[in-house]
Amino acid sequence: MFSKNYSTAKRVQAFSSKGDFEKVKKLMTEMSENYKVLIDLFPENTQEGFDTGALFTIWDEKDEFNALMAKASDDMIKLISVIEDAEDIRGTLKKFMWSNCKACHSKYREPH
Ligand code: HEC
Repeated sequence: MFSKNYSTAKRVQAFSSKGDFEKVKKLMTEMSENYKVLIDLFPENTQEGFDTGALFTIWDEKDEFNALMAKASDDMIKLISVIEDAEDIRGTLKKFMWSNCKACHSKYREPH
């Protein structure tokens, strides 16, 4: 699921730099939906017996985690409306896409 978002994110970056915004917008919608599905993949009581790189703090701070996930999802939607007119495509992608990955990973994902 996360790996899929990662490859989608890379395609978003590639198509954006080529100016292929129709494709990009579709991918962004996919990613936004993907995040919403991900929220449900971390329900209570899945914390034990899973071989996962997710940190236990996710379940201690579920509200905050879900909020980050929701923000990541919303930002993809915002990105759809701003990307075409953005002067700095790289910077815009960073702000609305990559920074959200980092914000969450630095807190909730094991160092790797
Ligand atoms: C709200 C939190 C959150 C956001 C936002 C988020 N991630 Fe993650 N990501 C995680 C957590 C937690 C894990 C560890 C999950 C696990 O191993 O079960 C993870 C794991 C991953 C992995 C490893 C997957 C694997 O199969 O081991 C990749 C790749 C990844 N994320 C990419 C991304 C990218 C790219 C973005 C942004 C476009 C992103 N993530 C946004 C929380 C997040």
